[in-house]
Amino acid sequence: MATPPFWLATARVMDIGIIMPDPVAGDWQDTGMLHGMAERLPTPGTALVTGGTAGIGLAFAHRLAARGHDLVLVARDAARQESVAAELRAAYGVDVEVLVADLADREQLARVEQRLRDPERPVELLVNNAGFGLKKRFLDNDVDTEQAMLDVLVTAVMRLTHAALGTMVERRSGGIINVSSVAGYLPRGSYAAAKAYVTNLSQWASAEYKPVGVRVMALCPGFTKTEFHERMKVKRGSGFMWLDVDRLVDDALRDFDKGRPISVPGRHYKAIVTATRFIPARALQTYQSIGRR
Ligand SMILES: NC(=O)c1ccc[n+]([C@@H]2O[C@H](COP(=O)([O-])OP(=O)(O)OC[C@H]3O[C@@H](n4cnc5c(N)ncnc54)[C@H](OP(=O)(O)O)[C@@H]3O)[C@@H](O)[C@H]2O)c1
Repeated sequence: MATPPFWLATARVMDIGIIMPDPVAGDWQDTGMLHGMAERLPTPGTALVTGGTAGIGLAFAHRLAARGHDLVLVARDAARQESVAAELRAAYGVDVEVLVADLADREQLARVEQRLRDPERPVELLVNNAGFGLKKRFLDNDVDTEQAMLDVLVTAVMRLTHAALGTMVERRSGGIINVSSVAGYLPRGSYAAAKAYVTNLSQWASAEYKPVGVRVMALCPGFTKTEFHERMKVKRGSGFMWLDVDRLVDDALRDFDKGRPISVPGRHYKAIVTATRFIPARALQTYQSIGRR
């Protein structure tokens, strides 16, 4: 990514709102048709959130419980899951199930796939959110560490999307929010490449399954104040480039309600995504270390 002053300058020049990156698959227009739909539904059904115990996933869990969704939380730390679940039950009076699973482990991932396919307990909304980044560059990581990141960011998202879509298309109802990243629009190594996959798949699936009543959206956050950078052991910044997690999720849900295929919260990040269409990849690559120090 570019230095903040560069992006600030770009944002000033380019802040003309999001331009559809793929005119064939995308639909950036707000038709208003689906706005507020989730709030109006008397029983919005169960939402399964991966990584629902911290950061963006935890903010989703709160907002969805406030909308009346029962929840299934998926993460590795069982004690933390129980404590978050108890808090959500007490605050919103919804059912909260915990599913302890490491999404990098194929057998544990299969249990989450099974839960999504359970016809007795349908999941109406899947939020594929769990993820992490790596501080070091591609060749400085051993290949198993890279594989684990790919497993969580891509394989788990693909398999859970596949499992959920199967039943949702059959029921002709449901939705999926795949948490991707603005990084997916930039040349920033294997993390960005994984997120590019998530954005592209989601954008395509949005167009493909909208006619049968299933909504799919990629959420592409920029730098967001969560545990992500601390876990990566890089310094978390501050200032206007750093998004508030609750506001991010409110913006995302507003876009989802409107039926948008992609949500890029924050005007400056919308401008960055727009700018990536015009700035040569070689120039973008020069700034790829931002957020890794
Ligand atoms: N924060 C940012 O600046 C930013 C920007 C763009 C995109 N994103 C994306 O947003 C998503 C959420 O990130 P965040 O910032 O909210 O991170 P976070 O605060 O570190 O939370 C990560 C969550 O994912 C869970 N998780 C991590 N690895 C897992 C695994 N192998 N299996 C199951 N659960 C796992 C964690 O719980 P356990 O540790 O208990 O498993 C935790 O609940 C990620 O996909 C990330 O790539 C973040």
